[in-house]
Amino acid sequence: MDMADDSNTIIRIEKLGRSACDHCGEVLEVSEFHVFEEIECPVCGGIVTVPGRFGNYFLLTELGRGGMGTVFLARDAQLNRLVALKVLNPKYGRNPSFVESLLKEAKAAAALNHKNIVHIYSFGQENDQPYIVMELVDGIRLDDCIDPDTLQSEMGWLDVMLQMAEGLADAERKGVVHGDIKPANILMDEDGNAKLSDFGIARIGGGDDDRILGTPLYIAPEKTRGVKVDARSDQFSLGATFWHILSGFPPFPGKTSKEVVLRRFENPSPDIREYASHISGSTAFLLKKMMATDPDDRFPTFEAVATEIEEIMVELETYEIEEEERRERLEEEAHVLQHEEMKGRVLVVGCVIVATIIGYIYLTWYR
Ligand SMILES: Nc1ncnc2c1ncn2[C@@H]1O[C@H](COP(=O)(O)OP(=O)(O)OP(=O)(O)O)[C@@H](O)[C@H]1O
Ligand SMILES: [Mg+2]
Repeated sequence: MDMADDSNTIIRIEKLGRSACDHCGEVLEVSEFHVFEEIECPVCGGIVTVPGRFGNYFLLTELGRGGMGTVFLARDAQLNRLVALKVLNPKYGRNPSFVESLLKEAKAAAALNHKNIVHIYSFGQENDQPYIVMELVDGIRLDDCIDPDTLQSEMGWLDVMLQMAEGLADAERKGVVHGDIKPANILMDEDGNAKLSDFGIARIGGGDDDRILGTPLYIAPEKTRGVKVDARSDQFSLGATFWHILSGFPPFPGKTSKEVVLRRFENPSPDIREYASHISGSTAFLLKKMMATDPDDRFPTFEAVATEIEEIMVELETYEIEEEERRERLEEEAHVLQHEEMKGRVLVVGCVIVATIIGYIYLTWYR
């Protein structure tokens, strides 16, 4: 038995005796190696990562760790498909009321079937460790795209935001609240499809105060007051997430969690254009409304948010087309002007040559 550990997140992973080489298929004896250790195949020389086993899943590698557990790239041994397996830290498994809430949330989230929401395939417990089996998203997290030094393409990010709003509109219709929308929970695949992960699951983790204060950048103000949250709290978090992505700066900066939380009351609905002047007025207004302190001042539904984003995208597209046409017109005018100028110059030079010839003939003739 191997452990994927740091001090309080010990996950028990079963060791395998033998495993096939990914490159040549040769069955290798791996019992003396650690799980996830890289070894060289003695037959083909390819590098192989030693897999582990967790229940019905072969763990192939670790994809990353979050506040609640570790996510592995895994193969479902029964269905023979690749999945993302999130194993929650053992302390959660020791808390029966948490496991019960997790089951309830996972069931609600599993009922969602939308292309912009990471699908939940299954849920279970292995050695008292709760786990969630999810659709594998081969791509990057949005928090890896935040860069204050690079101007972000407004149109491209509006498209990602629209995908999120459409997924969340579907969840809202089914009465499911996400509870922890943040860049790290938005995954993008290579084709530009965005998927929201950890639906509902982080919300119950939110019962743990440390976690709430651990990720306060995007939470709605009413959530910090313990008021019952609804889809409009998710709307605030989605607005704050894209405020950060579009500008490269968090909307509520602060050195401590407390400062960050207080900041949204001291300086509510900050104007993104003070940090990113290239952002259009319409997008700035959209974010301001999504991030209104009073939920009643936000958009009534995610469907309304999606409609607004679509309208802004049409507006920006029209603006870009008009700008392109204006540029082409100016270039055309400059071209015509240059042509006229050239014609004028040719005329002047022609006149000078003719006058010179006439002068020469005149002088030669009459002398
Ligand atoms: N369905 C998935 N497909 C591929 N990678 C995933 C998937 N879900 C999560 N990951 C990756 O696993 C890592 C850990 O995710 P996890 O959700 O545990 O952490 P987090 O979102 O950073 O924090 P939190 O615990 O607050 O949700 C992240 O790097 C993420 O990119
Ligand atoms: Mg997550």
